[in-house]
Amino acid sequence: MLPGVKISVIGCGYLGAVHAACMADFGHDVVGVDIDEAKVAKLAAGVPSFHEPGLEPLLRQGVADGSLRFTTDKTALAGARVHFIAVGTPQRGGSYAADMSYVWSAVEDIIANATPSSDGPIVVVGKSTVPVGTAQGVADRLAEAGVDAVVVWNPEFLREGYAVQDTQRPDRVVYGLPDDRDRGEIGRAVVDEVYAPIIAAGIPRLLVNYPTAELVKVAANSFLATKISFINSMAELCDASGADVSRLAEAIGHDDRIGSKFLQAGIGFGGGCLPKDIRAFMARAGELGVDQSLTFLREVDSINMRRRDHAVDLASEMAGGRLVGVKVAVLGLTFKPDSDDVRDSPALDIAGRLWGRGANVVATDPAGTEAVRLARPDLHIVDSVQEALSGADLVMLLTAWQDYVHLDPAHAKTLVATPRIIDGRNVLDPHAWTDAGWDYRGMGRRSSSIW
Ligand code: UDX
Repeated sequence: MLPGVKISVIGCGYLGAVHAACMADFGHDVVGVDIDEAKVAKLAAGVPSFHEPGLEPLLRQGVADGSLRFTTDKTALAGARVHFIAVGTPQRGGSYAADMSYVWSAVEDIIANATPSSDGPIVVVGKSTVPVGTAQGVADRLAEAGVDAVVVWNPEFLREGYAVQDTQRPDRVVYGLPDDRDRGEIGRAVVDEVYAPIIAAGIPRLLVNYPTAELVKVAANSFLATKISFINSMAELCDASGADVSRLAEAIGHDDRIGSKFLQAGIGFGGGCLPKDIRAFMARAGELGVDQSLTFLREVDSINMRRRDHAVDLASEMAGGRLVGVKVAVLGLTFKPDSDDVRDSPALDIAGRLWGRGANVVATDPAGTEAVRLARPDLHIVDSVQEALSGADLVMLLTAWQDYVHLDPAHAKTLVATPRIIDGRNVLDPHAWTDAGWDYRGMGRRSSSIW
C-alpha cells in the first residue's frame, strides 16, 4: 500500500471528528485541530464527544496506531499536504444567514501555519456547508496571502446515525474544482489519492465548478426538507378530510419517480442541518437577487413549524381544552432516533411549549437526556419509559426510537392514569393501540378507519 497522505482536519465537531477517523482508517496520517480543549481531550483518548454508531472503534484504532491525533495547537497544521475545513456554519444570531466566522478563521489558521509541500501546491478541501461563492473567496484569500494552494469544494452528505458509513461509502462524491484546468487536475488527483478506497469502489464522482459543488449540498437538503413538508401538508389535508397520510404516502411512494423515502409525516424535521440550511439558502438567494426562486422554502419552513403548533394544540384538545396541571409523558427528545443531538429538535421544542402552557411534563429519551438536562433544567427528565408513563394523563411519542415503536399498549395502559396517546411520528399501529383501549391520535391519520 502507498504511504498515506499527511492530512489536517480543521474543526472536530460532528463532521470533522468522523471525517478524521475515517481518513485515518483509509491509511492516512491525520491530525484533527479544534479550539475546544475538552472535545480534543476526549477525542485524543479515543472517545467520541457525541453518539455515533461505529465511530468509537475507528477513533480508538487510529489513536492507538498513531495515525490519528487531535490537538488545539494550530502549528500542527504544518507539514500537511491536504487541509480539510470541517468547521460549523450555524445560523447567525438575528438573521437567516450562515455564520461564516469559523470558516474564515480556519482559512487564516492555514495561512499562518501551513507549510509549502515539496510535492506541489497544498490542497485545501472545503467540506463545511457554505453559501455559494465561498470557495472562490477562500481561493482568493489564500492567493492574496501568497499561499500556493488549490482549493477543492467537496460537500458532505452524511446523516447522523450513519455518518461513518456515509463517509466511507457515500452515494456519490462531488469535487468543486477551480476554472484553471491544470490546477483543477492537481486538486482532483490529490483528493482522489485521499479517497482511494471510495474511487476504487466505483462510487460516482462528479467533477464540477465551485458554485455547482456549493449548491449541490443545499439543493439536496432543500429537496429533502421539501419532501417532508410536502407529506406534512398532506397530513393537514388528511386531518381535514378523514384520509390517512401513512396509507397515502405508501400509495404514492410506489411510483419510482416519487419514491417512498422521506415521506414520513409527523412533527416535522429538525437537527443541525435541514432547518438552518434552508434558511441560509434563502438568505443567499436574496443576496444574489433571486429570492423569488426560493420563496417556496419559506412555505416549507412554515409547514414544518406548524407541525409543532399542531402537536401542542392536539395535546390540549385531548386533555379537554387546557394543559395546566395535565401530566404529559414525553417519549423522545432528540431530533431523530439513534442520535443524542437535540439541536432544533421538534420533540424538545414541543416538550418546552407544553411546559410553557402549564403541563406537568415528564420526559425521557434513550440518549438525549444529558444534553437536555443542561439546556432545559426546567424540564423534568426521567431515565425510564416506565417512570415517564407512570400516572400520565397523556402520552406523546415524539422521537421514533425502536424502544418506543415496540411499546406494548396493554402493559403501557396499566401504568398511565388515562390511556391517551399522540403518535407524533406515525410509527405505532393505530388498531393495536385502539383495540387495547387507548384513545390514539396520529398526525394526519385515522385510528377508527377499517381500511
Ligand atoms: C440531513 C441530511 O439527510 C443529510 O444528507 C445532510 O448531510 C445533513 O442533514 P440529518 O440531519 O442527520 O441529515 O437527518 P435526517 O435523517 O435527514 O432527518 C432530518 C429530520 O427530518 C429529522 O428530524 C427526522 O425526524 C425528520 N424526518 C425525516 C421526517 O420528519 N420525515 C421523514 O420522512 C424523514
